[in-house]
Amino acid sequence: MTPSKGTRRPGNLPAELTSFVGRRREIADVKRLLTRSRLVTLTGSGGGGKTRLALRVAAGAQRTFPDGAWFVDLAALTDEGLLAQTIASTLGLNDRTSRWPTPQLTEYLGDKRLLLILDSCEHLCDSCAVFAQTVLQSAPGVHILGTSRQALGLTGEHLFNVPSLAVPASDRTLAPETVGQYEAVNLFLERAGAVQPRLELTHANCQAIVRVCQRLEGIPLAIEMAVTHLRALSVEQVLERLEDRFRFLTVGDPAAQPRHQTLRALIDWSSDLCTEQERLMWSRLSVFRGGFDLRAAESVCFDENVSGCTVADLLLSLVDKSVVITEEQDGQLRYRLLEMSRQHGLEGLGEAETEDVRLRHKDHFAHLVEQAWTECLGPHQEQWLTLLLREHHNIRAALEFSLTHPDHHEAGLRMTGSLWFFWIATGRTSEGRRWLERGLRLSTAQSRSRARALWVCGYLCIIQEDLDAAQPLIAEYERHVGHLVRAHPASNLQLRGMAAMSEGRLAQARTLLNQALDQYRSREDPTGILDSCFYLVAVTALLEDPRWARDLCEHALELCDSYGERWLKSYLTWDLGLVAWQQGDSARAAACGRDALRLARAFDEQWVIAFGIEILAWTANSDREHLRAARLFGAADSIWRRIGAPMLGMRHLISCHEQCKQQVRQLIGDETFDGEFHTGAQMTVHQAVAYALGEELHERRKRTHTSDLGLTTRETEVAGLVARGMSNKAIAAELVIAQRTAEAHVEHILTKLGFSSRAQIAAWAAEHHRPRIAAARQG
Ligand SMILES: Nc1ncnc2c1ncn2[C@@H]1O[C@H](COP(=O)(O)OP(=O)(O)O)[C@@H](O)[C@H]1O
Ligand SMILES: [Mg+2]
Repeated sequence: MTPSKGTRRPGNLPAELTSFVGRRREIADVKRLLTRSRLVTLTGSGGGGKTRLALRVAAGAQRTFPDGAWFVDLAALTDEGLLAQTIASTLGLNDRTSRWPTPQLTEYLGDKRLLLILDSCEHLCDSCAVFAQTVLQSAPGVHILGTSRQALGLTGEHLFNVPSLAVPASDRTLAPETVGQYEAVNLFLERAGAVQPRLELTHANCQAIVRVCQRLEGIPLAIEMAVTHLRALSVEQVLERLEDRFRFLTVGDPAAQPRHQTLRALIDWSSDLCTEQERLMWSRLSVFRGGFDLRAAESVCFDENVSGCTVADLLLSLVDKSVVITEEQDGQLRYRLLEMSRQHGLEGLGEAETEDVRLRHKDHFAHLVEQAWTECLGPHQEQWLTLLLREHHNIRAALEFSLTHPDHHEAGLRMTGSLWFFWIATGRTSEGRRWLERGLRLSTAQSRSRARALWVCGYLCIIQEDLDAAQPLIAEYERHVGHLVRAHPASNLQLRGMAAMSEGRLAQARTLLNQALDQYRSREDPTGILDSCFYLVAVTALLEDPRWARDLCEHALELCDSYGERWLKSYLTWDLGLVAWQQGDSARAAACGRDALRLARAFDEQWVIAFGIEILAWTANSDREHLRAARLFGAADSIWRRIGAPMLGMRHLISCHEQCKQQVRQLIGDETFDGEFHTGAQMTVHQAVAYALGEELHERRKRTHTSDLGLTTRETEVAGLVARGMSNKAIAAELVIAQRTAEAHVEHILTKLGFSSRAQIAAWAAEHHRPRIAAARQG
């Protein structure tokens, strides 16, 4: 669900949806600048091709950045306070600490070698500059490529003004064979092909096409917009109308005209071609941020002037006129306005009307959030999470509206609380707290919304281990408003139990959580039961009562299944692994760790992923797969760093973590440990999970079935001796090497082949590689 998911190479460069034209020189120039300066800003007016150029430069420079190229789209972000959080989320950081996002982010970036593309900085110039300055000082391997209408204004910033696409000079008459070398003409023809497949460059239309490109000053977006008119008009007719519009607009030399006026003229042209209803629709759609779907358009744009059934028709005609763009996200059709069209649309909304439309926008998303809250336990929770992520910008806009209008403060507060599941599962605890705390300051009346927000905010503070902030929230909840919500007093007991656990008062935590669980059970509150069970099982396992914990956990898992619940199930499955570990059952602990990873992967729930990999590192160690353990520790470590700190939220396990890591290090030596750890730490989250689950090995084994083993000659030889039933000691004697070296070879073979026993090596060697082993022995 997040950009980091599924990527093999680190990074998240979006696929380009349309063909790319020219820019060879510019790409080379910007690349060169990036080698000289760690902050390069591509400047120029809107529609000039900054974003496309940045993406091309980044794609070409990826190899120089082992930690990848990361594209952060800032266009729809309005709140400067969320800049660091947005960058962190894009990088796949899943912060669970109470630190401000900027220090966490800069610490994370400290040893990284990556390229950060900050796209569309113009409306957040000051905060982007502050952020860039901090990163430049604290993260020497990070380069920033910004795109912005104006410079960020930092010393050391290199500016590159993105020129227009090349157009033929106006005093030359050119033949069709020669105009193809001009980028603007190429772009015109590329885009024209999509609306007028039969259009070809001929002697007859050549001059008109060149003239259109000149008129549009080679501005890529202007060319694309003008081309859409070819659906109804010939090139000559498009040119005529452009000439008309520009004559109207400018006095004197059209080349002296600011570029955005050219684009405005084109937008005005589109607007003139719209009916009054379409223009109204256009304006109303402008309140959306980050796109919208048909249902949202219907509920936001509908009123006595635009009826529900015509909303869809109007939307389609705006798509036809290329005012609205369609795109697919997670298999869903979505709509979006280009930023410039959005601005134009907003200008067309009167003040009173703007308030009405924004209110409907808020209502729509508040309703959606409420629905997500009631359904977050069921079989559709993954879809809900994906949907909330997709609508994140709209949800932020709805929260902003609510919290800036006193009449809607309480509604805003209610939304912040209903997003409990979203804030946690997507690692946006800091953003959650920010909205919750703001809402709690504004809406102080004793209400159910306040009660829930206090509870959720207290909860987030506890999982962030910020107990000082949690205490007053819990106290107010307990004394004043808790009784207003149905889950009281179970919910209160749960928070106090979680706080006790976080402070290391385990026995007290167990009592409180047990009481909470009883209460939740008597109220038949499944979310409460499952959530409190997660903490109770962990505490009980830590208190060395694993059998009780196991029974409790198994019941909870059955309850998950009966609801089709999978998110809390990932937590509880991990719990079961912890219980098995405490009981000394390493195989079961590993199996649960793997199951938890599979569940958590579907949600990209990094906290569970980190714990899942961690427990597999412990079990690998006890299964004597020390190299694998070291690599898993490295993989877990890089996720812990994204989350904030190792074992965050379960600090009682830190000694287990440290001891186990130390043991592995001693067994395999510093150098080998560091090498494996480093390899693990270099993995993306996706790769780490695949490695922990043995999926890559499975793949490799399938591949090596008939081809290369992936083993060195020495390892092949050792495999042959294992197949003959020899012990490590005997192998060492046979090959005249130290016994420790023989052990290391065996471990390498196990790791490379994904096996856990010598018997597997023997069977495999006998089946597939007898000839090679024999050859190795002879050679
Ligand atoms: N070199 C190019 N080749 C093809 N299309 C381009 C090129 N440069 C820009 N475009 C198109 O022009 C439009 C505006 O470009 P964009 O990079 O978004 O501009 P900016 O970021 O400066 O606002 C986009 O639709 C983009 O795909
Ligand atoms: Mg852009």
